[in-house]
Amino acid sequence: MSENGITTAGGAHGGSGEALRPHAEVAFAHELAALAAADDRPRPERWRLSPWAVATYLLGGTLADGTVITPKYVGPRRIVEVAVTTLATDRALLLLGVPGTAKTWMSEHLAAAVSGDSTLLVQGTAGTPEEAIRYGWNYARLLAQGPSADALVPGPVMRAMAQGMTARVEELTRMPADVQDTLITLLSEKTLPIPELGQEVQAVHGFNLIATANDRDRGVNDLSSALRRRFNTVVLPLPATPEDEVDIVARRVAQIGSSLRLPPAPQGTDEIRRVVTVFRELRDGVTADGRTKLKSPSGTLSTAEAISVVTSGLALATHFGDGVLRPGDMAAGILGAVVRDPAADRVVWQEYLETVVRERDGWKDFYRACREVGA
Ligand SMILES: Nc1ncnc2c1ncn2[C@@H]1O[C@H](COP(=O)(O)OP(=O)(O)OP(=O)(O)O)[C@@H](O)[C@H]1O
Ligand SMILES: [Mg+2]
Repeated sequence: MSENGITTAGGAHGGSGEALRPHAEVAFAHELAALAAADDRPRPERWRLSPWAVATYLLGGTLADGTVITPKYVGPRRIVEVAVTTLATDRALLLLGVPGTAKTWMSEHLAAAVSGDSTLLVQGTAGTPEEAIRYGWNYARLLAQGPSADALVPGPVMRAMAQGMTARVEELTRMPADVQDTLITLLSEKTLPIPELGQEVQAVHGFNLIATANDRDRGVNDLSSALRRRFNTVVLPLPATPEDEVDIVARRVAQIGSSLRLPPAPQGTDEIRRVVTVFRELRDGVTADGRTKLKSPSGTLSTAEAISVVTSGLALATHFGDGVLRPGDMAAGILGAVVRDPAADRVVWQEYLETVVRERDGWKDFYRACREVGA
């Protein structure tokens, strides 16, 4: 790392272990190394691991030498298998789903496991220019020398094509349609022309692309059918059971908490279960026992939001409490996640609070805490 803190992009080569949020290939370097050593199955050209080992990296397992691979993705095995297999074909992978279903998370870990580098990333926004996908120019050089290979600044996708790596495009449907269309030729012809130089960059074996798109953003910039045909779409579901969701939240909170130097939350499992219950019931529009119908608030109440509510609660408990996660640390966060629209959502929340929370065994403290922050 240089004095100004700039590291070479590409976590595996230049990332610093002290980063607030290290790239997947750095954070899980030991697991990836153990998998590579144990992996005797055929690897597609330029892949760091075989598809089997990539799936094991994502789903977790124990290797013959005893190394424990932590699960990164909790969900149906088939989904992971289809996603990994797609990357070994000539079709790109589109991860689709409602917010907070681990699309970005899976994309990062797939790229880390397949190519050892998850940083060849284009972030899709309404302002993403075509150059972000193709290439730009070093203007000083361009003015001095005219267009030349030296003056060209390849974008992440171009670099991935040239080096046979995995490129990532986040929030594909937020990009303007004409920018999305840049991907069509690139994905079908596997080449990126550079008309200024009369040259092209041809993708080599190992190149593929993972895009993510959010269900809720549909309609912002719909994916053209021409582009959609270039992708295999994998829809990531919300966690199937409350147990799965509690497991995901507990794992991520432990990871995030340790990177923020927060104490572990062994007594916090009850609180995690409670957030997950509240979020699931409101999301589903019915209580867990199926007896009471509920109105759903406008927010998504995703697993990702549950993770951040618990992390904030833990920080509150650490800095202003005795370090034990209690209902009072959670209430404000939960209320904030549920009540997005101050008018309509507040009514939904009040009704839930009075008809469900108030009557539930063992939820008295939580009810009181919610009344306090909600007043
Ligand atoms: N099934 C799951 N398995 C493991 N982690 C999960 C799962 N679902 C959600 N998460 C966790 O939720 C967090 C947020 O996920 P992520 O940011 O990837 O969501 P996303 O689908 O990209 O959402 P958005 O549409 O808002 O971009 C991650 O920390 C991830 O670990
Ligand atoms: Mg995302």
